[in-house]
Amino acid sequence: MTRRTRASHGAPAAGRPSHSVGASRSRPGRTSRPVHRSAKREDGSGPGAKGRGGSGPGDEKRPLKTLERVLSKAGLGSRVEARRWIHAGRVIVNGRTIEDPDHWVDLERDRVQFDGRPLQTRERVYLLLYKPTGYLTTYRDPQQRPTVYDLIRDVDTFISPVGRLDLDTSGLLLMTNDSQFAERVTNPDSHVPKTYLVKASIRLTDPQLQHLRDGIELADGPTRPAHVVRIRDSEKYTHFEITLTEGRNRQVRRMVEALGATVLKLVRVRIGPIGIGTLPIGAWRMLTPAEMRMFGPARRRTVARTLSGPRGRQ
Ligand code: URA
Repeated sequence: MTRRTRASHGAPAAGRPSHSVGASRSRPGRTSRPVHRSAKREDGSGPGAKGRGGSGPGDEKRPLKTLERVLSKAGLGSRVEARRWIHAGRVIVNGRTIEDPDHWVDLERDRVQFDGRPLQTRERVYLLLYKPTGYLTTYRDPQQRPTVYDLIRDVDTFISPVGRLDLDTSGLLLMTNDSQFAERVTNPDSHVPKTYLVKASIRLTDPQLQHLRDGIELADGPTRPAHVVRIRDSEKYTHFEITLTEGRNRQVRRMVEALGATVLKLVRVRIGPIGIGTLPIGAWRMLTPAEMRMFGPARRRTVARTLSGPRGRQ
């Protein structure tokens, strides 16, 4: 069943519609493509064309929408209204007035303006995904490996990962179209804690765990003090929990490697106030307004979705 993230809240700002682009899409990738397949961009790069934006493999994953749909999904008005505005010459794409409502828009690449103002997201979407291992935290992969977007195909708003998890790391991944929120969560200055469960390739001593706590000298500088708790030791391995307030590339793995061990399993179980709870692996759910409040003051017009229960693959 297709589930949509459309919300019924958020009135347009007075006067001009509250410029928003839902940047909506289901990933026009492996299974779904825009309906108007024969349409071409005016520069010849529409879905029916070859090369960039063409019908080659690269086209499979492009977030293409018709201009009419971009405006309506942005919450500016109905599709009928959107067509009227486009015909009236009120919409500019990449500096050029476009009067064709079926003009293809690449949501990653094209700049859309309505009445001279750039579209911005009105409807904020905040989603929590339990990323399994084997999925890339990226929009497209030249090698066609699975990505997290394969797990959120039923989300029709374009959202981006908040930070990254390695291919071999599972666990909590926030995704949103609110770039300020994403910046707040990922910026080391925000000190948003992220907690991981780690299985190390050896039994780690207390001094080694203390070393993780105190900070490890990595190639890109010393790590901040971390909270580390030994969970259990098996005959050969140590399982521990580590909470970091910075999010450097492969940080946990590099810290463990600095101890002479490797990470056999890495799961992110908490980001700030949000724990993994009972969310099944591979599934997603929207953050609740209460959870959003726990992250700090919301922006004006920011509304968290309140759809209940885990979604996606279960
Ligand atoms: N640290 C890592 O080493 N990998 C991740 O994916 C996240 C944190």
